Amino acid sequence: MSATTAAVTEKSSVRPIEDYLSLSEQELYDRIQAAKQKLGDRVVILGHHYQRDDVVCHADFTGDSFKLAQQAATRPTADYIVFCGVHFMAESADILSGAHQQVILPDMAAGCSMADMAGIEQVESAWEQLQDLGITSMLPITYMNSAASIKAFCGRHDGVVCTSSNAVPLFDWALKQQEKLFFFPDEHLGRNTGVKFGIPLEQMAVWDPRLELGGNTPEKLRNARLILWKGFCSVHGRFQARHVDERRAEYPGIKVLVHPECRYEVVAKSDLNGSTEFIIKTIKDAPAGSQWAIGTELNLVNRLAKRHTDKFVTLLAPDLCMCATMFRIAPENLCWSLENLVAGQVVNQIKVDDETARWAVVALERMLAIQ
Ligand code: 13P
Ligand code: SF4
Repeated sequence: MSATTAAVTEKSSVRPIEDYLSLSEQELYDRIQAAKQKLGDRVVILGHHYQRDDVVCHADFTGDSFKLAQQAATRPTADYIVFCGVHFMAESADILSGAHQQVILPDMAAGCSMADMAGIEQVESAWEQLQDLGITSMLPITYMNSAASIKAFCGRHDGVVCTSSNAVPLFDWALKQQEKLFFFPDEHLGRNTGVKFGIPLEQMAVWDPRLELGGNTPEKLRNARLILWKGFCSVHGRFQARHVDERRAEYPGIKVLVHPECRYEVVAKSDLNGSTEFIIKTIKDAPAGSQWAIGTELNLVNRLAKRHTDKFVTLLAPDLCMCATMFRIAPENLCWSLENLVAGQVVNQIKVDDETARWAVVALERMLAIQ
């Protein structure tokens, strides 16, 4: 056994997070790098594009939720996957990675308000209510931004998972399987994708889980091709149509580029919409001197503005903030997780139970196969 391996596996007690809170930026940076070096190939750090700069700079791979799921599925050499993102992403990484791998979320409070808007009991109750109405030709699709239990529900019912970068091919596949789709938990991504398939808005019903029949009449549900769970992203859901008008008035000729988690009215007024990876590529490929107002998470927009100084890049709405839960992953948490791994202690492991994982992987692998 090499000296490095011996150091990595040496057991000691868990270091408390409090020990990290007064470290300087530079100390944290140096200690994270040193811990990474000690762990070597045994660790891979994945970073979502909405992570803050002082965290994402340590990632071995950055990506949107789809790319990071692919990375988790194809890194069998790493014993530890440290996920700088949010809870549902770490759950998916655990499901897609090997049995010998452990997934770590540096702060357990890094959840997602959208994912929390669909509980498994609510989804099961909605499904039963629809079946009781005689609606059986229906396929469930869940957005990646959902709990593992919802992904497992889709796996059990011949359904699938999608992300913002593959919603179109996945809807295409799903619409060939069944007449109706039940999409959760993002009403807006579901509607924006349905519109791309020419489904009229009148043939979309919104399911409010607090109400009987989701607040719909039986006819509305029978006529709907798309039933949309009433959930939304607390970041993208804040952009409004007036923000597009205001930016266009302020910067004549500016292009508006938004994430499809934005409301339909915002997407309809934009020039382009697409996933986080699409947004990054569009700005990278845009000509020098072009002007862009972007409707997505603030950390990413600021990074794009800094990276492409030959273009003008601004947030679509001047007063919107970052994703607060993504921001929970701070260098302190990352340093704490890595140094504990060096000391042989796995902290904040995300582990999906076997029965849930068995079905969730069906829906996730169906997604990866349909690309
Ligand atoms: P993507 O990573 O699929 O673009 O999703 C955006 C998002 O809100 C992640 O939480
Ligand atoms: Fe959830 Fe929106 Fe934050 Fe993504 S940006 S983690 S969907 S709240």
